[in-house]
This record gives sequence, structure tokens and C-alpha cells, in this order.
Amino acid sequence: MQETGHKVLITGGGRGIGRALADRFAAAGNQLLIVGRSQPDNLPDQAIFIACDLADQKARQDLIAHITKDHADLSVLINNAGLQHEGVFATDWHYDDYAPELATNINAVVALTDGLLPLLKARKEAAIVNISSALAIQPKQDAPIYCASKAFIRSFTKSLRYQLAGSPIRVIDVVPPLVDTDMTRGRGTGKITTDKLADIFWRGWRANKENIYVGKAGLLQLINRLSPALASRSVRHG
Ligand SMILES: NC(=O)c1ccc[n+]([C@@H]2O[C@H](COP(=O)([O-])OP(=O)(O)OC[C@H]3O[C@@H](n4cnc5c(N)ncnc54)[C@H](OP(=O)(O)O)[C@@H]3O)[C@@H](O)[C@H]2O)c1
Repeated sequence: MQETGHKVLITGGGRGIGRALADRFAAAGNQLLIVGRSQPDNLPDQAIFIACDLADQKARQDLIAHITKDHADLSVLINNAGLQHEGVFATDWHYDDYAPELATNINAVVALTDGLLPLLKARKEAAIVNISSALAIQPKQDAPIYCASKAFIRSFTKSLRYQLAGSPIRVIDVVPPLVDTDMTRGRGTGKITTDKLADIFWRGWRANKENIYVGKAGLLQLINRLSPALASRSVRHG
């Protein structure tokens, strides 16, 4: 896979993990389309911002139509945008609170992948990169919808990879541990920086890895293989 010369769409590329990945792709000479609800203060070189609330079905359809019309040379789709509610299910939060989380973490990934696949299939080489989570390996108690949504992404990514085997499209699962971003502000310890994550991602990308385990997520995957009960205990209150 060429490291340069791609047109890359990154959902949630304005801040956090998405921004670190956007910077890495921009520095390697790729063109960026950054999708988010709010325009970031600044953008990487060669980046265009496209406003879209991915939880909104009509907005997603408009985004797909816009990309198909104006950016048909898209070759990399990075499904990164995500939300997390922490609390006691059906007590602190109810369905209406979880709906945007389900829509952003799951529906948007399925819709964008479906809608943009024809463009990717037309390229000589292309990739779909989905950001799952170590919490897809074992869930924590406080974020039932989030953890389940990430397990969905992990499973969806694997099936899609089977279906696209033999096509020019690589399908990659990025599995981060706890990362220091707005999403994790005020909680957790031992977080890695987004720069560190981007370093590990970039090495995996260059090495054509299908699953890119970042930091402690790799260790958790190993422990889970040896002792799922131990892995479960270590994540439950994490
Ligand atoms: N941080 C961690 O510890 C961690 C660990 C494992 C996996 N992850 C995953 O990594 C991804 C990025 O997380 P992060 O920590 O970088 O989060 P973050 O700092 O909270 O950033 C989230 C990004 O997603 C965008 N976004 C959220 N909802 C959106 C919507 N409805 N429509 C469009 N854009 C939306 C946000 O932009 P706007 O607000 O402008 O819309 C923002 O750019 C997520 O999928 C997350 O689940 C994070």
C-alpha cells in the first residue's frame, strides 16, 4: 500500500485520535477530508473540513452524495468518530441518551462503509480503517452501550475483511487502549498520548497489518487468549 497520494476521509478527524491520524497522513503527503460536527480551530495541511452530524441519517446520506460527486477519488475511509456514555444503564442514562452513541458508533460506520464502498472498489488500492477499542475484547461495567458498539465494530470489520479478500481494499481494525483525549478527560490512569498511538498506527499501516493493537490493548488480547476470566476481571472496573 502506498504511503502517499491517497485521498483520506477521517470521521472525527478534528481532535483526539482522529486528529493525530490526520496529521500523520497529511505529513506523508496525503489529502485529507475531515468530518465532524464542529469546525476545528485549525486543520492539517491539505485538509478540507466537511461538517456532518454522523448520528443523523439524512446528514450521512448528504455526506455520501457529496463525496461521491466531488471526491470520487477517495481511497481511504477511516471510521474514527465515536461517543461514550458512562453510567448505570437505565438509571443514569436512558435509550434517548444512548441513541446518538449507537448511531455514531455503529450506524454511521455501516452507512459510510456501504455508501463509499463503490468509490473504494474503483481504486487500484484502498483501505477501510475502523477504530474499535480494547473494550471490544472485554467490556467494562460502566459503559455497556459503548463496549457493545466496539465489539460490533470488531466483528463487522473482520467479516468485511473476509468479504473483500481478493479486492484492492484492505480492511483494518485499530484497537486502542485508554488514550488521553477529550473522551477520557478526568478518568483513568496510564493513558497513552495520541502521538504515541499515531506512531504505532503508522508502523502497522506501513507493515500492512490487519489488526493494529496499540500499547496495552495488545497485552489484553494476549491475556484474553490465555485466560478470558483474568482479562475480564482486569477490565471490568477499568
Ligand atoms: N480515547 C480513548 O481512550 C479511546 C480508546 C479506544 C477507542 N477509542 C475510539 O477512538 C475514536 C476517537 O476517540 P477520541 O478519544 O479521539 O474521542 P474525542 O476526543 O472525544 O473525539 C471524538 C471525535 O469524534 C467526532 N464526533 C463525535 N460524534 C460525532 C458525530 N455524531 N458526528 C460527527 N463527528 C462526531 C468529534 O467531533 P465533533 O465533536 O466536532 O463532532 C471528535 O472529532 C472513537 O471511536 C473512540 O471510541 C478511544
